[in-house]
Amino acid sequence: MNNTIGNRSETILEHLALDGAINRLKALEVPADALVWHRFFGALLLVLLVLLFLSGAFMAFYFSPAPGSAYDSVDYALFTLPFGDVIKGIHHYGWNLFLIVMGLHLVRGFWIGAYKAPRQLVWVSGVLILLLVPAFVITGDLLPWDQKGYWSTQVRISIMRSVPLVGDFMVQLLQGGPLTGIVALTRFYVLHIIFLPGVLVLLMVIHFHFIRHRGLCGPLSGDDLSRKTVRFFPVIINRWLILFLVVTFVLGLISWYWPAPLGDPADPTDSTYVPKPEWWVLFLNQLVTIFKGAWSVIGSVIIPGGLAGLLIALPFIDSSPERHPAHRKMVMLIAALLAIAVLVLSIMGYLEHHA
Ligand code: HEM
Repeated sequence: MNNTIGNRSETILEHLALDGAINRLKALEVPADALVWHRFFGALLLVLLVLLFLSGAFMAFYFSPAPGSAYDSVDYALFTLPFGDVIKGIHHYGWNLFLIVMGLHLVRGFWIGAYKAPRQLVWVSGVLILLLVPAFVITGDLLPWDQKGYWSTQVRISIMRSVPLVGDFMVQLLQGGPLTGIVALTRFYVLHIIFLPGVLVLLMVIHFHFIRHRGLCGPLSGDDLSRKTVRFFPVIINRWLILFLVVTFVLGLISWYWPAPLGDPADPTDSTYVPKPEWWVLFLNQLVTIFKGAWSVIGSVIIPGGLAGLLIALPFIDSSPERHPAHRKMVMLIAALLAIAVLVLSIMGYLEHHA
């Protein structure tokens, strides 16, 4: 009986010309080291990304991208549609968790020196993903057309406008004119659901291409698990599927009990509304407040750009083969100082805006 089902599925695969690909997948072996707990972050990112795409696609069925109707369409989907709160909540809690897990994935890669040769481009493609992700949050924030999204966008637009030489052009490109209206909403929507996901998927394919061809780095010491191997299919794939079900259930439950927030409808005439920066942007926001007037470009462009450049260049600056953290004291010290600076700025921002 089972044999008949097996034969039938093989014939279907042959008809679809997928038999070769499936056989290659079945034969794929990865180091047993792929199962260590801290590799969980990469798998979790993958699962969250799928959930973000799925929940976003469902929300797009009901979303109306025009200033007069966007808010009502979100309100309807959130409070009237069956499971609308669960779908929106999965998207909302999903991206917050995605940012946290991406930070942990990066710290782990840094800690064990996973960016070193021959994995420099695994790291670089990862950093490019990291730099792209805030654009999702920024474009997504405006879509519900509520007070918070509208006025946070005004803050971001004014920071962008203050960038010398290209600021005005970038704002014109992004919102099609001096005001945030229907053209801005349409462009933010298209960026959020088509352009940025396309670039992200491309970067993900590049990230996995390098992981596949450069291999995962082995443990720092102790048992060399990497010499043993496990089958990618079904061992790793099954873990990803279980993780997907667990994360969907947990995020769904959280969204059911604590629906995602939706503020009052946007009122462009109410300039008394002061948006509070979100947790992940507190340190950047603080930098912008520290450097004022002619110096503002230091906080808005030079320091963030310098940090991004440093992250991308890390594998080429710290190019010694030594991976153990205890033997990379200088790099660890610089990273610790930068982390402390980000933390202190974030706490200052939190006390100023949220306490
Ligand atoms: C959409 C976001 C991302 C996804 C889905 C993703 C996924 C993965 C997966 C599944 C792995 C293999 C398992 C593991 O080691 O965890 C991996 C490895 C790796 N990722 Fe990412 N990643 C993402 C973003 C990033 C970022 C932002 C960085 C850092 C800049 C990064 C750097 C690395 C490195 C260096 C490795 C190799 C680890 C090793 O060899 O041990 N990734 N990633």
